[in-house]
Amino acid sequence: MKTSKRKIDHIKICLQEEVESGYTGLEDVMLIHEAIPDLDFSEIDCSTRFLNKKLSFPFLIASMTGGHEETARINENLAIAVEETGIGMGVGSQRAALEEKSVVETFTVVRDKAPNAFIYANIGAPQIIKEPEIADKVVEMVEADAIAIHLNYLQEAIQNEGDKTAKGCFEAIREVCKSVKVPVIVKETGAGISREIAIKLKEAKVSAVDVGGKGGTSFSLVEAYRSEDEVLRDVGFDFADWGIPTAFSIVDCADILPTIATGGIRNGLDIAKSIALGAELASSALPFLAPAQRGATAVKRQILRFLTGFKTAMFLTGCRTPEELRRKPLFITGKIADWLRFRGIDLKAFSEGRR
Ligand SMILES: Cc1cc2nc3c(=O)[nH]c(=O)nc-3n(C[C@H](O)[C@H](O)[C@H](O)COP(=O)(O)O)c2cc1C
Repeated sequence: MKTSKRKIDHIKICLQEEVESGYTGLEDVMLIHEAIPDLDFSEIDCSTRFLNKKLSFPFLIASMTGGHEETARINENLAIAVEETGIGMGVGSQRAALEEKSVVETFTVVRDKAPNAFIYANIGAPQIIKEPEIADKVVEMVEADAIAIHLNYLQEAIQNEGDKTAKGCFEAIREVCKSVKVPVIVKETGAGISREIAIKLKEAKVSAVDVGGKGGTSFSLVEAYRSEDEVLRDVGFDFADWGIPTAFSIVDCADILPTIATGGIRNGLDIAKSIALGAELASSALPFLAPAQRGATAVKRQILRFLTGFKTAMFLTGCRTPEELRRKPLFITGKIADWLRFRGIDLKAFSEGRR
């Protein structure tokens, strides 16, 4: 099946079916309410810097699309909205544009409409293993500020036509880090990144990880809905809940590499909890898909909801900057507390706000 056709199937399924696995671990994390915060709402400065670029608040729209003529409008609407609100976004996998010249514009529209925003290019690990040089091509195509190499082996495993080549992946990533002109982000797509993998990625000279943890969109479910193979469909549903929940992955990675929290981030409070756990930024995909089909105004409204929620959490915890949020005490319970103990991470560091 052509990559472009698969891309449009994914969008339809994500809009029509229940594709979220649930439980990110953020449910077990509580920011402690300050009934009298020591600041005025107007003093709060949510802005931050990430990989040398300023963002109005620590948030990106995660990679989704491009690669089929019908997706150009989605990318255009996302790009207009991120430019006007001062955040950033990733384009979807650019593999289709390497295979078919006719869809290049579905990606280049992003830089056209967002000349100043933080934009990251996107390509899959199996493609990089085969041909590390394509990293330069995808960066040039969208004049990107960074490149994300995505890891989606769960999805590939459930796809009949999936590319299950993983050997040589670290070497290929190391190669790209040496040769490409922009910072490299390694990005999971819903199954999380563990501490062990983050350490190896740091050794390969990666600049940041996007944990893409479990709890939001599950590509195992997306592929199960798409599958014409009965066995793979069943296995796709069996693995709906597979992966490291987003919050677990944040605490695993955040002291190793700059960390983007993705996977089930559904509002500004989720962003605030992620930052408090140690992430630099958060990003989110699915909640922006339906608004992007409607238009740039609908995307801007959704961004505003995330920003206002984030600012509200900062106000109610008495934080002027995202940096201050990182030093606030957190009440951590449930499965993520078990995970911290399992990892030998001191829970007290979180309860006393000294991380
Ligand atoms: C429709 C759709 C298409 C996606 N396509 C890509 C892609 O091409 N490349 C990629 O790295 N991630 C892709 N993702 C994964 C997201 O970037 C993100 O990691 C994942 O959806 C988890 O975030 P969420 O729970 O907020 O949706 C896609 C997600 C959606 C919903």
